[in-house]
Amino acid sequence: MNQPVTIVILAAGLGTRMKSRKAKVLHQAGGKTLVEHVVSTALQIAPPERIFVVVGHQADEVRRAVTTPGIGFIEQKEQKGTGHALLVGRDALAGLDGFLAIVYGDGPLLRAATLERMIDAAAATSGAGVLLSAEMRDPTGYGRVIRSVAGRVAAIVEQKAGTPEQLAIREANMGIYCYRADLFWKHVDEIRPDNPAHEYYLTDMVEILYRAGHAVEAVRIDDPGEVLGINNRVELAEADRLLRARKARELMLEGVTIEKPETVMIDMDVRVGIDTVVSPFAAILGRTVIGENCRIGAGAIVADSELADEVEIAPYTLVASSRFERGAQAGPFARLRMQAHVEEGAHIGNFVELKKTRLGRGAKANHLAYLGDSQIGARTNIGAGTITCNYDGTRKHPTRIGEGAFVGSNSTLVAPIEIGEGAYIAAGSVITENVPDDALALGRERQVVKPEWAKKRRALGK
Ligand code: UD1
Ligand code: CA
Repeated sequence: MNQPVTIVILAAGLGTRMKSRKAKVLHQAGGKTLVEHVVSTALQIAPPERIFVVVGHQADEVRRAVTTPGIGFIEQKEQKGTGHALLVGRDALAGLDGFLAIVYGDGPLLRAATLERMIDAAAATSGAGVLLSAEMRDPTGYGRVIRSVAGRVAAIVEQKAGTPEQLAIREANMGIYCYRADLFWKHVDEIRPDNPAHEYYLTDMVEILYRAGHAVEAVRIDDPGEVLGINNRVELAEADRLLRARKARELMLEGVTIEKPETVMIDMDVRVGIDTVVSPFAAILGRTVIGENCRIGAGAIVADSELADEVEIAPYTLVASSRFERGAQAGPFARLRMQAHVEEGAHIGNFVELKKTRLGRGAKANHLAYLGDSQIGARTNIGAGTITCNYDGTRKHPTRIGEGAFVGSNSTLVAPIEIGEGAYIAAGSVITENVPDDALALGRERQVVKPEWAKKRRALGK
């Protein structure tokens, strides 16, 4: 492709059939909004300054959902049809040379390769451009591709306007086009709202250009599923399923083992290294990056987190916005959140929660603990049932535990508190004062033993 291409994404409609207060393109599939999918696909083909999104319903929210800098927006205040969406963009677009590709914001499954194929085909024809079409078993609702006796594409007829013979045609218009920009802008004013809906139909361009002697070719795609436009929540769920299946397949071909791939939920921007094994019903979400040779256990949920190589997340563990270094482990049934940081080889066991806590190299918290706002030194052992009391009802306070310390089971550490290197905390202690390096701290009642007490009680018949 040696001519530049501008990509316009139509996303002004509300999408009534979604039955939502939210504009259709703001709904999510595969972990991101529909419009973001289309924008990322467009970015594989054109630079941001050659990409424009036509916004209307909830324009500000849609703009905000598109985070890549440099992308242009065209405001279509009233939605008077797909042709009108281009007409309102004329000032911004008509000066751009080369090709004009038009896609829909509600079609997240479109592949960059397909878009590229269409643009290449447009560059290869001597006519005005190409549209994507598909032979469909049931094309109801789509515009039909009308061909001349010579087999040239002569017009698109919308469902509502078609004669029975036209509606019997199974070649449907996918609504995705690539035109020579100069010809498009030269003829665009000829689109008239002379149809029962009084809309400006973009589809009219095909007949307008044909009559002007500039043929539009149809590029047939094999899989109409790829250009599935989402109209309701059933289709949204289907698109989500297809996107995730595509992502899982991509990862498997790149060297990731996924057991029962139809059950896992992996967001589009996730990255996973080779030889990592993902077990059934795991969810890997957001901007998560996972290294090589890791294990993500059944039912685990890992969101927006970073896992180095050899990390093991055991089943049913929740990890959010956290970081694991090489060989660290967590779970089963653990919860890590808000910048928890598990250093190399450290272990977190079942029913342990970490919040804003760093667990040093090789340290262990193997059972039933809450560690919040804490810095825990290397090789330290946190006994079962240890609780950092980090909240006084008003403010959060930090806990620091040095390297090689031993915190006995069921300790209560009242923050702010510091426990020195190599210190011991006796099991069952409530620790309210700092503990120096290498000390033993006991913070509990001395045990009382009353000999024969139980026996005497029984003798009294109680
Ligand atoms: C359109 C085509 C039809 C094709 C079908 C494929 C027309 C007239 N018809 O019909 O031939 O088979 O797509 O899916 O183009 N939009 C705007 N502004 C508007 C109107 C629409 O931005 O004023 C956006 C919508 O938000 C949506 C897209 O354009 O993302 C398509 O609009 P829609 O009304 O769904 O067109 P269809 O009736 O599906
Ligand atoms: Ca549609």
